[in-house]
Amino acid sequence: MKRKKIVVAVTGASGSIYAKLLLDNLKLLPGQIEKVGVVMSDNAKEVWQVELGNRDYDNYPFDFYSKMDFNAPFASGSAKYDTMIIVPCSMGTLGRIAQGISNDLITRAADVVLKERRKLIAVVRDTPFSLIHINNMKTVTEAGGIVCPANPSYYSLPKTIEELAQTVVSRVVDLAGLEQDSYRWND
Ligand SMILES: Cc1cc2nc3c(=O)[nH]c(=O)nc-3n(C[C@H](O)[C@H](O)[C@H](O)COP(=O)(O)O)c2cc1C
Repeated sequence: MKRKKIVVAVTGASGSIYAKLLLDNLKLLPGQIEKVGVVMSDNAKEVWQVELGNRDYDNYPFDFYSKMDFNAPFASGSAKYDTMIIVPCSMGTLGRIAQGISNDLITRAADVVLKERRKLIAVVRDTPFSLIHINNMKTVTEAGGIVCPANPSYYSLPKTIEELAQTVVSRVVDLAGLEQDSYRWND
């Protein structure tokens, strides 16, 4: 299997734990992954501090890019990144992507992934949804993106917040085409 190049974008929706767990998971899959590029919005860093009480995103062994760095490889289709995961994805970022407003590295990278017909996974988080949010999810889906709401499942009987959040992250890892052991219904 060809090792994948993956972009992880973290935005300022609630659910920094999903970003943390995804980065933890990706760290364990070097045989399947050639590169992980990470970009965080300013609000993502604020929410991570509020919800996780640290700034540990600095410690991951990945390539970090600032949110206005249009020299990042995945700002161009020619760099051939396979998959972009936005986790969590705020309604603001979703809306900008749906309207093609590529005014920072996150929205530009998403624009690139969609135009190159590669895989975009948006782990959207808000509740309830307005019709604007729903229409933006429809637009991104019609453009080829995958909207994967941060809705945990309970049938694996998770006992901790981490186990609960991992139910979302395991689906994201599956959607990204990566092989990983996880709970599978009736397996
Ligand atoms: C603690 C906290 C939690 C938030 N949760 C959400 C959320 O769940 N969904 C959302 O769309 N925005 C949420 N926001 C608002 C976004 O951070 C805000 O709309 C921001 O402009 C998003 O910018 P970004 O997409 O560039 O990160 C939250 C903000 C804070 C401070």
